[in-house]
Amino acid sequence: MYKSRIRIVDLLKADKYDVPVTVKGWVRTRRGSKSVSFIALNDGSTIKNIQIVADLDKFSDELIKKITTGACISVKGTLVKSPGAGQNVEVQAEQIDILGLCGDDYPMQKKGQSFEYMRKYAHMRLRTNTFGAVFRIRHNMAIAIHKYFHEHGFYYFNTPLITASDAEGAGQMFQVTTLDLKNIKKTPDGSVDYSDDFFATPTNLTVSGQLEGELGATALGAIYTFGPTFRAENSNTPRHLAEFWMIEPEIAFMDKTELMDLEEDFIKYCVKWALDNCKDDLEFLNKMIDHTLIETLQSVISNDFVRLPYTEGIKILEEAVKNGKKFEFPLTGWGMDLSSEHERYLVEEHFGRPVIMTDYPKEIKAFYMKKNADGKTMQGTDVLFPRIGEIIGGSVREEDYGKLVDEIHARGMKESSYEWYLDTRRFGSCPHAGFGLGFERLILFVTGMQNIRDVIPFPRTPGNAAF
Ligand code: 4AD
Ligand code: MG
Repeated sequence: MYKSRIRIVDLLKADKYDVPVTVKGWVRTRRGSKSVSFIALNDGSTIKNIQIVADLDKFSDELIKKITTGACISVKGTLVKSPGAGQNVEVQAEQIDILGLCGDDYPMQKKGQSFEYMRKYAHMRLRTNTFGAVFRIRHNMAIAIHKYFHEHGFYYFNTPLITASDAEGAGQMFQVTTLDLKNIKKTPDGSVDYSDDFFATPTNLTVSGQLEGELGATALGAIYTFGPTFRAENSNTPRHLAEFWMIEPEIAFMDKTELMDLEEDFIKYCVKWALDNCKDDLEFLNKMIDHTLIETLQSVISNDFVRLPYTEGIKILEEAVKNGKKFEFPLTGWGMDLSSEHERYLVEEHFGRPVIMTDYPKEIKAFYMKKNADGKTMQGTDVLFPRIGEIIGGSVREEDYGKLVDEIHARGMKESSYEWYLDTRRFGSCPHAGFGLGFERLILFVTGMQNIRDVIPFPRTPGNAAF
């Protein structure tokens, strides 16, 4: 596949020396003396660079001057054992061709630039060590996810991105329309006439594939989705994106305990995959971003997650406040929606390990969750993680047609928009459950990065859709 070159990741594994090689990549640095230049070359296949040694009696000054940070070059030479410290092998250059010069206004040439600065150059930041590591890990996590579900009998099921329903009932949707916004036709009662719109009805980008996923699960037994998700929530936080990727497994005949077991087993598998398959990148991030990263990942896979009913969680938080703990967002007691600082207190300070919180007040959860016999709580099973807060949102689903319709009415939702969904409860309804994992939140956790905008190549946030 790589006939015209050898990838640096493969070159560094070589056990034969004094063989001819061709490497191609982008220059990280060039340093040297009057007689020799050392070029650190990276091709994206690994965090590691290959050292190119260019004897200056073989190359003109003019050529060497063009080999600046960011330039793209092709090197033919000999792979030799390196006498220097820091690398086992290096390439003794015979021929160097400049494939692409790099202007001296290259925005990524300085070391130690802030992530905020680099976000302005999201198209160029991909070439840096940190972003290379992050996106190789992101790829590996996607592979781990598909592998886990395939091995456990789930079918990959694709749900639509354009939909006419609001899966979460939270109204944070991006509208999709081909109507001319400068010239909107109105119906006699003054509302927008959608008969001329592409789908002849109001549509939006999906906030979750779950509802269609439930149709898949109640036919194929167990499915998972893995696709883009869109939320027009105006939350400028380091954990929210307007366009993010979600993984949503949905399983027939699964109860709450099995669901929690699945959430825990799945996420541990992904974290272990990273530790086993992304060693070099994790070691780099451990050194540069978070010195406790690898230790934190190991601790997550070696400890049982705590399983904690919401009501117990509130008691622990109230106790903490009594003992002097100060939260930025005040605790207002049972019924409140916890903020990520409360979640992180439970995970990081109180228990010191991930928590699966269960049985939430129904007012703060979505309409589709199964209600408990107390009439007040629902069988949600969110997973709360150190540094992240909520990483998974999940629940057992309400399978009873009557109860589900009542809930839809009680929330003022339009029953007619959910007819097809309700059919699952009318034709051979079955107990079932599922969850959604925010892919970028998983990547945040696994890489130790601090801001969700730095774990997706081209982030979409309020006021920002560049690149
Ligand atoms: O908790 P959420 O809203 O749950 C659902 O959408 C369910 N339909 C999932 C299911 O049961 N099938 O979202 C699930 C996860 C959250 O826990 C979080 O990790 C992530 O999706 N998430 C976001 N990630 C980035 N940016 C946002 N704006 C996010 N909103 C949710
Ligand atoms: Mg949630």
